[in-house]
Amino acid sequence: MPTHAPQTTGPALLDLTDPQTFLDHDPHHMWRPYRTHHPVFWHPGRDGRPGFWVLSRYEDVMAAYRDNKRFTSEQGNVLATLLNGGDSASRKMLAVTDGPRHREIRNLMMKSFSPRVLEPVVTGVRERTRRLVARAVEQGDVDFVTDVADRIPIHTIGDLMGIPAADREQVVDWNAQTLSRYDADDSELESVLARNEIIHYISGLVAERRRNPGEDVLSTLAHAAVDGEPLSDEEIVLQSYSLILGGDESSRASAAGAVLAFTRHPDQWRRLSGGEVGLETAGEEVLRWTTPTMHFGRRALVDVTVRDRTIKAGEIVTLWNISANFDEHAFADPYAFDLARTPNKHVSFGHGPHFCLGAYLGRVHMKAMLEALRDMVADVELRGEPKRLFSNFGHGHSSMPVRLHARA
Ligand code: HEM
Repeated sequence: MPTHAPQTTGPALLDLTDPQTFLDHDPHHMWRPYRTHHPVFWHPGRDGRPGFWVLSRYEDVMAAYRDNKRFTSEQGNVLATLLNGGDSASRKMLAVTDGPRHREIRNLMMKSFSPRVLEPVVTGVRERTRRLVARAVEQGDVDFVTDVADRIPIHTIGDLMGIPAADREQVVDWNAQTLSRYDADDSELESVLARNEIIHYISGLVAERRRNPGEDVLSTLAHAAVDGEPLSDEEIVLQSYSLILGGDESSRASAAGAVLAFTRHPDQWRRLSGGEVGLETAGEEVLRWTTPTMHFGRRALVDVTVRDRTIKAGEIVTLWNISANFDEHAFADPYAFDLARTPNKHVSFGHGPHFCLGAYLGRVHMKAMLEALRDMVADVELRGEPKRLFSNFGHGHSSMPVRLHARA
């Protein structure tokens, strides 16, 4: 098919740059026509912005994630920045760096993410999760997002980075306003200001760690050398900022998404609470089912042919996890929420050279939540309409009224 041939059916009508599209359509079902009829789809440009490619099949998404020689992240790795012409953090933040520098910095940061180093952080996650779930059970009616899910991962990252406990609420608020704006009424400007606030805040912490190093990831970055050179303040700030961005929202989204899934699939809840399925497999299925980041993006460096279409050098390519995770070619009965699903090679943490650095921690969060719910909760009851995030990137909720009934 010729490049950019106009397509007039199904997907052509949806605007994937507009967060409203994702509220108006059930994300699981909206992707089937893409996968079936237009697996390599050219999304036309709108309002003076360029068009972009949409990959929706598991196999194509995985291949693009793997290929950081022909598809670069350096000009942005989410649609919003790619469409704006680039990411100001390019080559200063892991997710938007490629090549040998990416490998070196990734290896450096991995030291702070090995299961051995994370042991005390993991203990903290489990304790915090149990405490919060116990309190929610005691209270009865709670908003699972704001009263429980919001309060866990930021403390984990806080522990990793040594953020003082008193400042953490503020960091959560700023973060909520950055990538996935919570409401259609929040302005783009607020999102930029919040990002600046976080960066300014971390700069202060870096200066302090240069003077008084500890064992946290900030101190590691502040005293490391890459290619024989120390990292600049700006780089350290941006690397740490990416941990807040990457670690907070996705973990929150998957925890709340788990609870919602249980209210809609009581049979699966019974399998978990009755001990019929293990935390490991259950956690993987919740991660697939919730797919906290709907897409990531790249820019083609050379012409690349995918199926019958040619992606030209310089064009933007988007990789839709939310579709790949429900691809009938990769998952048996993909629309079934099955806590015992094996194998379950979901793409929620990405794949290839940029595979999520915090995947281990993300899994720890998920298992801690499932364990706490299993041990303390008899039943989860939805008490009002959950409110979805307003975003074409983050897939989650800003509010979810529930009652957690205590286990006898
Ligand atoms: C990368 C998802 C938790 C830090 C990624 C990517 C995905 C992802 C899909 C790939 C991005 C790309 O290819 O452009 C998730 C999900 C999480 C989670 C679903 C939780 C359920 C975390 C946590 C942290 C973290 C807890 C850190 C504390 C990062 C970083 C990268 C990354 C630094 C960039 C890695 C690189 O470019 O080499 N994450 N993440 N993530 N994530 Fe996560």
